Amino acid sequence: APVKSLTVDGKTYPSDEWTNIPPFILDLIQRKLHKNPDHPIGILHDLVKKSMNGMGYTIYDEFHPIVTKFQNFDVLGFPEDHPGRSKSDTYYFNKEHLLRTHTSAHEHECFQDCKTPGYLITADVYRKDEIDRTHYPAFHQLEGARYWSRLEPNYLEKIQQDIDSIPKTNIIVEDPFRDQPITENNPKQTYMTPEEVRLVATHLKKTIEYLVNQVFENARESAKKAGSTEPYLNEPLKVRWVEAYFPWTGPSWEIEVWWKGEWLECCGCGIVQRQVLLNSQLGEDKISWAFGIGLDRIAMLLFGIPDIRLFWSLDERFHKQFKRGEISTFAPYSKYPGVKRDVSFWLPSESTLHCNDVMEIVRSHAGDMAESVEVVDEFVHPKTGRKSQCYRINYQSMERNLTNQEINVIHGNVENDLTTRFDVEIR
Ligand code: PHE
Repeated sequence: APVKSLTVDGKTYPSDEWTNIPPFILDLIQRKLHKNPDHPIGILHDLVKKSMNGMGYTIYDEFHPIVTKFQNFDVLGFPEDHPGRSKSDTYYFNKEHLLRTHTSAHEHECFQDCKTPGYLITADVYRKDEIDRTHYPAFHQLEGARYWSRLEPNYLEKIQQDIDSIPKTNIIVEDPFRDQPITENNPKQTYMTPEEVRLVATHLKKTIEYLVNQVFENARESAKKAGSTEPYLNEPLKVRWVEAYFPWTGPSWEIEVWWKGEWLECCGCGIVQRQVLLNSQLGEDKISWAFGIGLDRIAMLLFGIPDIRLFWSLDERFHKQFKRGEISTFAPYSKYPGVKRDVSFWLPSESTLHCNDVMEIVRSHAGDMAESVEVVDEFVHPKTGRKSQCYRINYQSMERNLTNQEINVIHGNVENDLTTRFDVEIR
C-alpha cells in the first residue's frame, strides 16, 4: 500500500501523486561520505578545500539533501518542461519536496548568506539513472561561485588582479572560446559588456584549470610514489573547453580532461544569470560565475576504484585501504561471481514505462546487488504492433556469493512489480 507520509530527520513529508522515494534511497541520506576524511570522496573533498584555502571561498558542506522544487529548479530558471523535473529523473517526497539533483540547488541561499567573494558547496545529490559501474542514484558534487561588484572603483582591474593571483599551471589548454567567449549558440547576457564577460570567463576558467591541476597532479605524484611507470604520468595534463547549456548560466561551458586516452567530462560552469543574483537579493551591481564538479567519477579514477557501488560498501576490506590526505590505489579483493537474468515483456499500448522505471524497480528489490541493467532487445511485432523489450540484469554482490534461491526471489519480485505497476505481460 502507498505510504501516507515519510519522516526524515524529524520532519514529515505527506505523500501525494509525486511521491516516488524507495526506502533504500532514504538510507543513503544518512551516510555523508564527503564528511568522512578517510573515505575517497572525503579525501578528494578535503584536497579541493585545501587547494582553495585562503582564496576567499566560504565552505558549505552541511546542507540537508531534501530541498524544495523552488530551490532545485524554479529559482534557477528551469523551464517547466525540462526533463530534469520529471518523476522518472528525480526523487520526490511530494510535489514540493525532493532530493536535490545538484548542488546548484543551494546557490540562491549561498549568494544570500556568504560574506566572502565566493563560496564552495559540497553535498550528496540524487538522480534516477542507469545501473552500471559508473552510475549510482546517489553521488557527490562540489559547487563553486565567485562574484564582483561593479560599484567598486576599478572593478575591471580588480578582476584582472584576481586572475593574476590564481597560481599558474603547466596544463595544456585547448580553448577555442578564449578570445571570443560569445558565440551564436552561447550568447552573453544583455546586462554585461563583452569586456566583463571576457574577464569573468577568464577568472572562471583559470580557477577550474588550477583545481583540475591540483587534483590530477596529486594523483600522478602518488601513482609515481607507488612505483607506477605509465608514460602518461610524465606528459603534461591536457584539457579542453566545450560549449554547454545550463538554465541558470550564460554563456556556459564544460571542461574535459584527457585521462588515459579518453576525454573525461569533468565540470559544468558558466556566468550566472542575472535573475538568480537578483532572486538572491545580492544587488543589481553584481556579476558572477559558478561551476559544479562531479566528485565520484574523479575519485574512481584517482583511487583506481572499478565500481561506484564500492563507495557505499560497509566492507572493512574497502575502508581500511584509505587514509586521510592520501591518494592511494585501490587493491581489488576477490570479486564474487554475478548471476545474469533476463526479463522480457510486452508493453501495453501507450505505455509510460521509462527505462529509469525499470532501473528503479530492480534497485528497490536488489539494492546494491544490482551490478548492471541493460536493454538487450527491443522490437515491435509486425502484425499486432505490440512492443517488446528485454532487459538483462546482472546480480552481483561486493560482499558475498549469492544463491540461486535468493536471486529467484528478487527476480520474481522485479517481474511482479513490472506487471502490477506498468501492466506489462511477461513473455
Ligand atoms: N549543476 C550542474 C550539473 O549538475 C553543474 C553546474 C554548476 C553548471 C554550476 C553551471 C554552474 O551538471
